[in-house]
Amino acid sequence: TSILVLNGPNLNLLGRRQPEVYGTTTLADIEALCRDTASALGVALTFVQSNSEGALIDAIHAAHGTHDGIILNAGAYTHTSVALMDALTSVDLPAIELHLSNVHAREEFRHTSYIARVAVGVICGFGAHGYALALRAMAQHLDASG
Ligand code: DQA
Repeated sequence: TSILVLNGPNLNLLGRRQPEVYGTTTLADIEALCRDTASALGVALTFVQSNSEGALIDAIHAAHGTHDGIILNAGAYTHTSVALMDALTSVDLPAIELHLSNVHAREEFRHTSYIARVAVGVICGFGAHGYALALRAMAQHLDASG
């Protein structure tokens, strides 16, 4: 079992980006947390970040045939990108939408998601720990569906 954890724009700045919203955990810390969780679950992990919508779409396409599921924190593209939604639909892999912050407690424009329409489920509001929750949820989903 192989899971792709894909991070979108501005998440490379975690740790110093609005720490009151996103915490002080860096993306490198989150990758380490994901690696620990993945090895405890016995799943392989690929961890990617890009600020570019096209690169995220390419990474989703590349997951077809190489990965069993995608965990996607698409950042602000969550709320804007039909193209990312279409990419997920095109590869037909289970996806979990993830956010560090509780987007529903924030500005109105963060309440809508193109990703959620095609996702198995959504995890938000648990900070960096949400990544561990999402990995567990995906491992269980893949077990149950495979
Ligand atoms: C985010 C929430 C988005 O609304 C925002 O644009 C981000 C981060 C989160 O992880 O809380 O960049 O995806």
